[in-house]
Amino acid sequence: MLWSRRSFIAAPAAALAIDGGSPVRATPLRPRHFGPLYYDDAEWQMLVEVWKTRSPFRFWDFNNKPSQKVSTLEREFAARMSVKYAVAVNSGTSALQAALAGLGVGPGDEVIIPAWTWHSCFHTVVLAGALPVCAEIDESFNLDPNLVERHITPNTRVLMCVHLQGNPADMDRLLPIARRHNLKVLEDVSQAVGASYKGRPLGSMGDIAAASLQVNKTISAGEGGMVYSSDGTLLERAVRFHDVGNLRAPHQEWLGQSKQEAVPGGNFRMNEFTGGVLLAQVRKLDRIVSDIRGVAKRVYDGIADLPGLKLRGLPDPAGELGSGVYLDLGSKETRDKFLAAMRAENVPAAGPSGSVILPVQPYAARKLTVHPAWPTFNSEHGKAIQYGAASCPRTIDVLNRFGGVLLDPRYSEADTRDIVAAIRKVYPQVRAKSSPPTA
Ligand SMILES: Cc1ncc(COP(=O)(O)O)c(C=O)c1O
Repeated sequence: MLWSRRSFIAAPAAALAIDGGSPVRATPLRPRHFGPLYYDDAEWQMLVEVWKTRSPFRFWDFNNKPSQKVSTLEREFAARMSVKYAVAVNSGTSALQAALAGLGVGPGDEVIIPAWTWHSCFHTVVLAGALPVCAEIDESFNLDPNLVERHITPNTRVLMCVHLQGNPADMDRLLPIARRHNLKVLEDVSQAVGASYKGRPLGSMGDIAAASLQVNKTISAGEGGMVYSSDGTLLERAVRFHDVGNLRAPHQEWLGQSKQEAVPGGNFRMNEFTGGVLLAQVRKLDRIVSDIRGVAKRVYDGIADLPGLKLRGLPDPAGELGSGVYLDLGSKETRDKFLAAMRAENVPAAGPSGSVILPVQPYAARKLTVHPAWPTFNSEHGKAIQYGAASCPRTIDVLNRFGGVLLDPRYSEADTRDIVAAIRKVYPQVRAKSSPPTA
């Protein structure tokens, strides 16, 4: 059915399922993890090859013929992201830690991160001995470019631009702020692998990028991560950090003349089974992105004419991954009513998800570390900094107001029609009973 403004206005309001009406769907719609949905013979063959060659370690085996899955993955991932180099690691958290090591972040340094993102962004800065400074998000769920600059001090070294819930951060405004203050930019692409900003793949605009390939990301082998950059020096440091100081043949050949000495690091290496699955997955990335964007487009188009509709801020609608469609319901009360009513229609809806409000986490509010002498909170600013809800009222307000529907790249046309029908049924009725959204 085509929705027009006229049909919207003329349609009598159907009783909401939550009020006893019939639901839009008979059974609940459930979004699934993207990458594993696309597993087929390609991933299977990769696993079989590693198994048959008995070569699960990426750097050597007894025949001295390692199966090269991880090395090939790195090359293909870097090419897809329009950067020169990449190193595969075992998680997104490891990727952030290695990227921060690549940037040389340490005690006395400060790193600006969004107040709403995954724990790892805060933890890895603390593990580096540096101070995480949380800045407010805006209606895009990403760093608010208007409010970042107030957090910059002479000790700020890095601006961590996290592209959250599939949505690119406003890089045209964030990059100049970083350049003006001589900050390095670390892009965390974990929640938006495959998305772009004004034609540029996410992760190719800052100095270095980190991505998670864990199960609820665009492509996955269950766990996995990637550090990528066009700066060979930063990448060499990250490579060495991920492999107890080593720079082995695949990276040495790729990076050319070594420029860095080994410093103590960890072991964040990826194994060949994981690399094989991810190699098959990266070859499907464009298909997955195209599918999820197609699903999102059908939903956006289907609700575009709803009067008063306020969507999440999208700095580049064409570049968004499309993993969820979010609406501003104006207040927490109305948002919660919207979510309950949508669920009763068997179309699951939720507030922004996949991240946490960092300043209210007990470890942040109480400035906990593994050791009392840990340098993070022992600097002057570290002693003075106050986390907690009072430090991020705008973030909390945005997260309370928005509600939406998570999408699945394999949703059928009928599924997306149901999502559209549920939003068209619920949104106007819930909104009619509430005060208008805040400006
Ligand atoms: C923004 C962001 N950064 C980092 C990570 C950490 O990734 P991993 O779980 O693979 O360690 C996540 C995971 O959800 C994330 O969402």
